Amino acid sequence: MSRGVLLVLSLLTSAAATRASAQLVDGKPIYELHCRECHGVRGVPPQNMQVKYDRIATFDAAFIKRRRDDSIVTILTRGKGKNMKSFKDKLTPDEMISVAMYVRELAHKAKP
Ligand code: HEC
Repeated sequence: MSRGVLLVLSLLTSAAATRASAQLVDGKPIYELHCRECHGVRGVPPQNMQVKYDRIATFDAAFIKRRRDDSIVTILTRGKGKNMKSFKDKLTPDEMISVAMYVRELAHKAKP
C-alpha cells in the first residue's frame, strides 16, 4: 500500500474513534436528569423558569445557529452567569459532548 493510502486510512480510523467515543453515552438521559428542570423537556424553559431566570435561552434554530457543539461544552465546563452552573464535577467530557449534541437535536425539532 502507498503511504498516501495508509495516511488516509489512519485519518479515517481516528475520526471514527472520536465519533464512537462521543456516542458511547446517550445525551437524552443526561439531559433529562441534569438540564430538563430548567431548560424544559424540549428545550423550551417552563414558564416558572422563564420568570425565575430572565436570561435563560430557548434551544431553537436561532439559538443553535450561533453556537457550535464545542461552545456548549465550554458553557458546561465553565458555567455561565450566576444560574447556569458548571457541570465539570458532574459530567465527564464525553457526557458533555453527548448532551451538547442532544441540545442541538432539540433545537432542530419544531417547537409548539
Ligand atoms: C438551575 C437551572 C439550570 C440547569 C439545571 C441547567 N441550566 Fe443551562 N442555563 C440556565 C440559565 C439561567 C441560563 C442563562 C445563563 C445566562 O445567560 O446568564 C442557561 C444557559 C444555558 C445555555 C446557553 C448558554 C449561552 O451560550 O448563552 C446552554 C447551552 C445551557 N444552559 C445548557 C444546559 C445543559 C446542557 C444543562 C444540563 C447539563 C443545563 N443547561 C442545566 C439554567 C440552568
